Amino acid sequence: MINKLPSNKSIELSDLPKHVAIIMDGNGRWAKKRFLPRVAGHKVGVGTVKTIVEISAELGVKALTLFAFSSENWQRPKKEVNTLMDLFVSSLKKEVKQLHKNGIKLQFIGDRSEFNPKLQARIAESEELTKDNEGLKLVIAANYGGKWDISQAVRKLAEQIQRGEIEPDAITSDTIQKYICLNDLPEPDFFIRTSGEHRISNFMIWQLAYTELYFTDTLWPDFDRAAYIEALQSFADRERRFGQTGEQLMKAQ
Ligand code: FPP
Repeated sequence: MINKLPSNKSIELSDLPKHVAIIMDGNGRWAKKRFLPRVAGHKVGVGTVKTIVEISAELGVKALTLFAFSSENWQRPKKEVNTLMDLFVSSLKKEVKQLHKNGIKLQFIGDRSEFNPKLQARIAESEELTKDNEGLKLVIAANYGGKWDISQAVRKLAEQIQRGEIEPDAITSDTIQKYICLNDLPEPDFFIRTSGEHRISNFMIWQLAYTELYFTDTLWPDFDRAAYIEALQSFADRERRFGQTGEQLMKAQ
């Protein structure tokens, strides 16, 4: 049970989401409001990442997926892209030992081949170091896009068809699912986007089919413990029906 919530309510641990997916948005606006360069917002945003990872691990959330860099983010000014890359490298270097100590298992999804060799090496090292950990699974979506994810799955499936291992008629959503990123994890049951934007923006469009969506005006650098707990409380208050009626669900309990 999580007590001392902002609203004086409590959340049963069994009502927590198993897999939280977050679009960390609003770093640039946070900086602009303070007449700072956009990259200052990203730097403070790294601190929020640490806080949210710590709370998720502490509460027993099974998986946390963070959208760190989308396939479309390459279009940003070169200087901002470079700073983001440097931030990823330095954060990984600085934090990976502590993450490992806390039993956190790191995984990256997305097309990493376009990253510079140093970042690719850090990604591989951090995955290797933490691969046997059994605590929180921390997934970083980097150079990731939901349409890219579906395309890479379909490509692998087409290769299977070409090898004659599967008939086109036999393809179902389960067959595709086998190749979609994170198929070994429970699908995200809770999605959070900060900064007042109400869009999925090509993030895990396959995996979010039944996910509860939560949007908050809070900018990512300001998304603190209280804001996260408030979001989790909103999830705990919802009834997930998966296409059934509330009565059917009551009977099944
Ligand atoms: C969106 O804010 C944020 C990003 C594109 C980058 C997210 C990166 C971090 C939080 C830092 C590092 C993360 C890790 C995993 C170490 P925005 O720039 O789109 O903000 P705006 O919409 O206000 O312009």
